[in-house]
Amino acid sequence: MSIINVNLGAKSYQIEIAAGLLEQAGEKIRSVSKAQRAAIISDSNVDALYGERLQKSLEGGGFAVTRIVFPAGEKSKCLAELAKIYDSLAAAGITRSDLVVALGGGVTGDLGGFAAATFLRGIDYVQVPTSLLAQIDSSVGGKVAVDLPAGKNLVGNFYQPKLVLIDTELLRTLPVRFLHDGLAEAIKYGCIRDKALFEKIAAVRDDEELLANIGGIVERCCAIKAEIVEHDEFDTGERMVLNFGHTIGHAVEKCCGYTTYTHGEGVGIGMALLTRQTEKLGLTAPGTADAICKVLQKYNLSVDAPYAEADLLAGIGMDKKKSGSSITLIILKEIGSSFLQKTDWQALPDYVKRS
Ligand code: GLY
Repeated sequence: MSIINVNLGAKSYQIEIAAGLLEQAGEKIRSVSKAQRAAIISDSNVDALYGERLQKSLEGGGFAVTRIVFPAGEKSKCLAELAKIYDSLAAAGITRSDLVVALGGGVTGDLGGFAAATFLRGIDYVQVPTSLLAQIDSSVGGKVAVDLPAGKNLVGNFYQPKLVLIDTELLRTLPVRFLHDGLAEAIKYGCIRDKALFEKIAAVRDDEELLANIGGIVERCCAIKAEIVEHDEFDTGERMVLNFGHTIGHAVEKCCGYTTYTHGEGVGIGMALLTRQTEKLGLTAPGTADAICKVLQKYNLSVDAPYAEADLLAGIGMDKKKSGSSITLIILKEIGSSFLQKTDWQALPDYVKRS
């Protein structure tokens, strides 16, 4: 078992990481909550796999449990599904002293967390992430949101959980494509902060070895994220380094209508394309893009997408990280070291082109 503290004053919490933690969830969550009732929010896939086990564990911890299940998929991260969740929370008699437990991947953590942040002006919640992407990124740091037709995560909040429980054993049921999807974000952490982590992932031989080593990888990613969030909870400076690869990545997701490429796959493409250009511009050490592409390709992650530069630039136009006449790009000096660069919109094509 490893424990990482996220030190945010009165909003501090722990991330607990171990294989088999789901069975101990009731006792662990009881140690941070006096709630009588707990509402587990999860999607139809995850509820079928783990809903009952979590319910039993929570009941063992003395909680009266309601399971709220929504249809699996990013489409559910919307205001209409949120409204249904509010109705279910009200029907279950959830009060301000009760608790939400978000059991699932990134969609569930964001949707369940935003429901908790806003129901009755905010009730406690715990994250129990089940995808690699959620375990190493979205369950930590308190970003909760729903999508609008105009774009992803456009309505949201910063609202920290009371606890994050990461059971790495749950990754064994994750389809391999989504294991690799999450791994793109782990590669990102290596790129921005930790050369040893990058090299560890690069040295892994296959998915079996990856799963055998996943606890250490998850732990290191969460430790990096915790440190960054402690320094910049509200994403006004340092936290932006977590968006390495995301500006072009979001554009790729948008260009394919959120179908062909997953989030992690988009981020992989974004890291590769941007770093090719920053190398050419003399901002990044030679060989960095090749190193990134090699590790991405080992996990069947693409390093380019069939979209014209103009389409990618149009996709970036909706990126919510833009402010005024410039956009903040996250650029590598070399593997393990990154910096933020405010870039004029007119200069942006230099960073997106392929030659
Ligand atoms: N996923 C990026 C962040 O939490 O800031």
